[in-house]
Parts: sequence; structure tokens; C-alpha cells
Amino acid sequence: GNIRVAVCVGSLRKESINRRLALAVARLAPKEFSFEHVRIDDLPLYNQDFDGDYPLEGTRVKQQVATADALLFVTPEYNRSIPGVLKNAIDIASRPWGTNSFAGKPGAVIGTSVGTAGTALSQQHLRNVLAYLDVPLLAQPEVFIHFKDDLIDAEGHIANEGTQKFLQGFVDRYVAWVKRFHQG
Ligand code: FNR
Repeated sequence: GNIRVAVCVGSLRKESINRRLALAVARLAPKEFSFEHVRIDDLPLYNQDFDGDYPLEGTRVKQQVATADALLFVTPEYNRSIPGVLKNAIDIASRPWGTNSFAGKPGAVIGTSVGTAGTALSQQHLRNVLAYLDVPLLAQPEVFIHFKDDLIDAEGHIANEGTQKFLQGFVDRYVAWVKRFHQG
């Protein structure tokens, strides 16, 4: 059957290199996988007062995550951690208490940066958060892409053959990981 992946890109930037990376991954996946980007730019800042009366945008995101079969986080590194917009979206989808929309969904964390560390520290922080939220995460291969020149274009075409092969290896492992949770 069709396997639906909710993609959370941790950048709101129009030209986001992480969004490009997400598109590149989708291109390398088999046809039975579909990738839906989760809109996070219209979410209010999480406030625990919401829990009595959840904002519409928050309910929409929770619904999208809850109905997905798998998760893919593609995030920049901001000051050696996760961008606030991504943490906010995660906080919103994890609440109200007892309704964590992420629970049990297989996922992966990848990212790209103009810095040489390639989002390694951001991803490490994100893994910690997602472990708490009961997301079984693919451990290997880690994907720390050092973005330079026009490595990936706006449609997700990869310019460098080595990067393409490396990412294909990631996608193959990710697909196998997700399928372990969705037999038949
Ligand atoms: C950055 N950037 C950055 N890069 C990095 O490798 N490590 C870091 O800690 C940071 N910190 C950081 C903080 C802030 C506030 C900004 C705006 C940027 C640079 C970052 O990698 C670059 O802007 C990417 O283009 C961001 O990814 P998107 O938005 O293009 O997907």
C-alpha cells in the first residue's frame, strides 16, 4: 500500500537548502512512498493555555502527523541547536498532554548546512527530543550534508554524483526502516 511520510522542515526560508534536501530525498524514494510537507509557518507560539482550547492550526498539524505512517525531519542548525520554529511545531504536535501525535511513528533526522559540521549538533539535540516523544529513529547512516555551490536545486535535483549515491544509500535504509513498522 501507499506509505505516507510527514516531512518537517525546520526552516521557513523560501530558498531553504533543507527544503531542497527534503525534495531530493523524495525523488530518490520508491513510488509507494509519498512525502507531504507539514506547514509550520502559521503556527502560534505554543502556550499551555491552548490545552483547554487548541488553535485550529495546531489541530491541523497534529492531524497531519497523526495520520502519517512515518516521519522525516530535515533541519538546519541554528546556534548549534534546533531552530525555534521547529521546536515550537514539535511542542504543539506533542500536546495537549496525553495526545502526543508522534508516538510510535518511525522517523529519521537529516540536515544540511553551509557550515562544515553539517547540522550534526542540531540533529543530536533533535534526536534527544524525539526519543522522549517515542519516535523510533533510524540511527545510521547519519546525514550531515555540507552544502556548497549549487549542490541541490530548487526542484531537488542533486548536482554531485557522490552526494546522490550517499543519499540513495540513506533513502534505502530509511525505506527499510519504515517498512519494518508497516508490514503488509
Ligand atoms: C545559522 N547557521 C548555522 N550553521 C551551522 O552550521 N551551525 C550553526 O550553529 C548555525 N547557526 C545559525 C544561526 C542562525 C540564527 C542562522 C540564521 C543561521 C547557518 C545556516 O546553516 C544557514 O543559514 C542555512 O542556510 C540554514 O538552512 P536553510 O534555512 O537554508 O534550510
